[in-house]
Amino acid sequence: MTQEWWRDAVIYQVYPRSFADANGDGMGDLPGITEKMPYLGALGVDAIWLSPFMRSPMRDAGYDVADYCDVDPLFGTLADFDDLVAAATQHGIKLIVDLVPNHSSSEHEFFKAALAAGPGSPERDLYVFKDGLGPEGNEPPTDWLSHFEGIAWTRVTEADGTPGQWYLHLFDPSQPDWNWENPKVHEYFESVLRFWLDRGVGGFRVDVAHALFKDQTFPSWPHHPHRGNVDEAGNRAPQFDRDELHPLYRRWREILDEYEGDRMMVAEASVTPDRLWRYLRADEMHEGFNFEYMKAPFEAEAMKRAIDLGFENNAPVGAPNSWVLSNHDAIRHATKMGYPAGTTFGEGILPSDPQPDADLGLRRARAATLFMHGLPGAVYVYQGEELGLPEHTTLAGEFRQDPSFERSGGTRAGRDGCRVPLPWQASAPYYGFSSGGSWLPQPESFAAHAADVEAAAPDSTLNLYRSTFALRKQRGLGVGTHAWIDGLPAGVLGYVNNGVAVIVNTTGEAQALPAPFTDAEVLLASVAVEGGHLAADSAAWLAA
Ligand code: BGC
Repeated sequence: MTQEWWRDAVIYQVYPRSFADANGDGMGDLPGITEKMPYLGALGVDAIWLSPFMRSPMRDAGYDVADYCDVDPLFGTLADFDDLVAAATQHGIKLIVDLVPNHSSSEHEFFKAALAAGPGSPERDLYVFKDGLGPEGNEPPTDWLSHFEGIAWTRVTEADGTPGQWYLHLFDPSQPDWNWENPKVHEYFESVLRFWLDRGVGGFRVDVAHALFKDQTFPSWPHHPHRGNVDEAGNRAPQFDRDELHPLYRRWREILDEYEGDRMMVAEASVTPDRLWRYLRADEMHEGFNFEYMKAPFEAEAMKRAIDLGFENNAPVGAPNSWVLSNHDAIRHATKMGYPAGTTFGEGILPSDPQPDADLGLRRARAATLFMHGLPGAVYVYQGEELGLPEHTTLAGEFRQDPSFERSGGTRAGRDGCRVPLPWQASAPYYGFSSGGSWLPQPESFAAHAADVEAAAPDSTLNLYRSTFALRKQRGLGVGTHAWIDGLPAGVLGYVNNGVAVIVNTTGEAQALPAPFTDAEVLLASVAVEGGHLAADSAAWLAA
């Protein structure tokens, strides 16, 4: 780790409800994470990004916050949080918390007050309330769509029982958007930042960091938010990626910089890649997820383009790339890569969908990951990917909880399949996640990936991740340089970083290692290198 620790950090995403359950209620909790700190220490992570654990009615698994400065009783107490920070610190691990500033829960006391206070009140001005269109105000104020299906506005009933104003929610109706035009919202979030900074957090992952401010003329934008933030004519969406965001992030940076310990922010900004650097200027956020590599298929040219794009786009501001392959919103990459080339994906897989080739998926996932982990920059790991965990692709509808499943009438799978509780022990009830239950059922395929099985097998994915992180640190790859190796066969891609040649073979055939690497020492491999050949769908690190 360098002094700017985040530049080359390995950051492990904990999704609290599914990591480890200490009290046996079937829901992961903060004491569960504290107990597993030795595991994370041995894995070699520098920081944990903790998905929301604040008070919430859990309509969007905690991304609907009702109290930004308290722990939800499902997960424990503030004292448990302090214990977690202390345990992490003992292992040299920082804790980054999720900050959700675009919207609160409709159970937030400010939203309840806004409903009660009525149109035109200062309380209502903390959120985006507008009168409806049409003579009776029956039509929503704009045609904007919610990420979770349907229109992004909900009409309220006023205190006197009459149909009233509409409020904006870019996500579920239970997630009203804050009005960032109101200085009181700024003041409130500054106090939230300080609350967690005072408690010793290492920083924040900023949820939908490209939203928050909306074009105050509220123009038409009939496109689904998932299709990108520009239309066919190149017009930018009125609710995303606005210039007003940047003074806000500069102010937050000033606050972080008042604290010792190089506190950081990472943006979840789903913007076109050429605009990400705007969030990463030296006086704004430290990092922003690079989603291009994650979106790329397992194909040399596509992987190269994604990596080049990351370096080109961040170069003007000197920000490191934040490489990522899986998170709690996407199909686990060990499953995604088990589908034929050209397959398109939603956020999950239904039992009625074509099912993946699990072995091929895992083999490719190990290769794509090993290839990514040699790059300069920070790397993010989603809990369970170090076990080679697959998506739950046959989860029955009755268990699915993600709002888009219900709001789409079951046609969208939603994201539950990547959120299933982790397997710790192959032969314990609930695979050792809990003594009493599991909020989503775990598939049988998890047994072979349980942490105890993986720890005992020298060639397991867990041991591959451990060795990779150790060597990455030892060789300073995270703060190294990246130079493509020319002249490799089609489908083979490689680069050199600080004396390590990182090569991936994305073809379905073994490929001879080219000179000068034919007899090079093999430092790490996703499949053993034999007879100077890189196996099909595999990657290796070689001494260069
Ligand atoms: C989070 C999602 C969440 C959404 C609304 C994101 O992008 O990662 O899990 O549903 O923001 O907060």
